[in-house]
Amino acid sequence: MSKNQSRRPLTASPNELLKTIFSYVGRIADERDIDQLLILLADMGRDLISADRCTVWLLNRKTKELWSKVAHGVDRIVIPCSAGIAGCVAMTGESLIINDPYNDSRFDKEIDKKTGYHTRNILGLPINDGEGKIIGVFQAINKVPEPEQFSRQDLEHLLLAATYTGKTLDAAMLQEEIEATQREIIFTLAETGELRSKETGYHVKRVAEFCRLFAEKYGLGADDTELLRLSSPMHDIGKIAIPDRILLKPGKLDAEEWETMKTHTTLGYEMLKHSERRLLKAAALIANEHHERWDGKGYPGGVKGKKIHIYGRITAMSDVFDALANERVYKPAWEMERIVKLFREEKGRQFDPDLVKVFLDNFDRFVEIKETYRDAPPAAEIPPAPES
Ligand code: C2E
Ligand code: SIN
Ligand code: SIN
Ligand code: SIN
Ligand code: FE
Ligand code: FE
Repeated sequence: MSKNQSRRPLTASPNELLKTIFSYVGRIADERDIDQLLILLADMGRDLISADRCTVWLLNRKTKELWSKVAHGVDRIVIPCSAGIAGCVAMTGESLIINDPYNDSRFDKEIDKKTGYHTRNILGLPINDGEGKIIGVFQAINKVPEPEQFSRQDLEHLLLAATYTGKTLDAAMLQEEIEATQREIIFTLAETGELRSKETGYHVKRVAEFCRLFAEKYGLGADDTELLRLSSPMHDIGKIAIPDRILLKPGKLDAEEWETMKTHTTLGYEMLKHSERRLLKAAALIANEHHERWDGKGYPGGVKGKKIHIYGRITAMSDVFDALANERVYKPAWEMERIVKLFREEKGRQFDPDLVKVFLDNFDRFVEIKETYRDAPPAAEIPPAPES
C-alpha cells in the first residue's frame, strides 16, 4: 500500500515541516495557559511526524512515576518508571524508536490491555529542563498510515516539539514559583499597610474574598475574577506613606489631615504603576480608583459611572462593607441593618447600582465571608478565664 503516490510523503519535506510549525507558532505565542500550551505542543508533535497520538509524560523523581500530562485519546494515567518504553526513556535519558513493541521486552503490554489500543510503533524522547535534567518524556505512538514506521528523521523532527515542551515546563515552574513568591510579598506588604492602621489580620483576606464574590456574581470571567482577587488586597498600600498621627487618629480628621489621607490612592498608584506585571498593573488601577464614586464625587479623579474600571467599582464596595462591618480606630462596627440601609441609599450615588443589587441579592454570602474571617478581639478585650 505504501506505493500509492497520491498519499502525502511519509516524512514531511522541510517546506511542509515549516508550514506545520508556522501554523502552530501564532497559537503557541498567544497561549498563556500552560496546560493548553502543552496540548498544542503535543498536537504539533503529532502533525510533524504523522503519528496517531502523542503523550507528554512528567517525571516525578520522588515516586519514580510518570504522569501523563497531556495524552491524545486516552485518560490521564500514572505509570511506574520501571515499566514501559516511556519509563525506559525517563530512566536512561536516551531516545528510543520501537517498531516492533510486542517483541520488545521493554514494552509494557498491560497499557494496551488497559486502554484497548493496539500499539504498533513508539517513539520516545526525553524532555530536559534548562539544566539538562530529565523532567519528562515526549512520546509518539503509531505512525500513520499503517503499516509505516517511525524513522530517525521523525525523531529529529519531534525533538523540536520536545525542546519547546521542556522550555514551556521550565517557564511554567519558574512562573509558578515567581507568582507564589510575588503573592506572598504582596499579601505581606498589604497586611503591613493595614496593620499600621490597626485594621488587623483578616481585612486584606476579606476584601479579596468579597471582591471575588462580587466579580463572580456580576459575571466577570474566571480570569478577571482571579486577577481582582489577587490584586484587590493592595488597594490601601499607599497608607504605608501616611503618618501615624493621621492614620491612627482615634477621632475625625481635620481638613488638612483629610487632604493628606486622600493621597493614599495616588501614592499607591505611583508605587505600583511602573510594573509590567498584570497583577501589579491591576493593583495600581485599584489603588487609584477604589475611592471613586459612581456619581463622580469621589477622589482622586472624580471619575464617574462606568468610566471607573469594574475592578475599582468592586473594590470600593468591598472596602466600604468591610470598613463598616468592623471596628476602626475612628469608628465602631456597624450593625448589619445599618449597613444595608446605607447601601440602599447609596445605590446609584456612591455605588454602581448593579453592584448594590449583587450585594443585596447575595447578602448572606457576604456575611458568611465576614464571619469566616473574623478578627480575633484585641488581647486586652479577651475576657479573663472564669475563676473556679
Ligand atoms: P477605611 O477605614 O478602610 O475606610 C474605607 C471607606 O469606608 C471610607 O473611605 C468610607 O467610604 C467608608 N467608611 C468608613 N467609615 C465610614 C462611616 O463611618 N460612614 C460612612 N458613610 N462611610 C464610612 P474614605 O472615607 O475615603 O476614607 C479613606 C480612609 O481614610 C479610611 O479607610 C480611613 O483609613 C481614613 N479615614 C476616614 N475617615 C477617618 C477618620 O475620621 N479618622 C481617621 N483616623 N481615619 C479616617
Ligand atoms: C510504553 O511506554 O511502553 C507504553 C506505551 C503506550 O502504549 O502508551
Ligand atoms: C473625614 O472627612 O474625616 C472623613 C470623611 C469620611 O469618613 O467619609
Ligand atoms: C467588564 O466587564 O470588564 C466591564 C463591565 C462594566 O464596565 O460594567
Ligand atoms: Fe482606601
Ligand atoms: Fe481598606
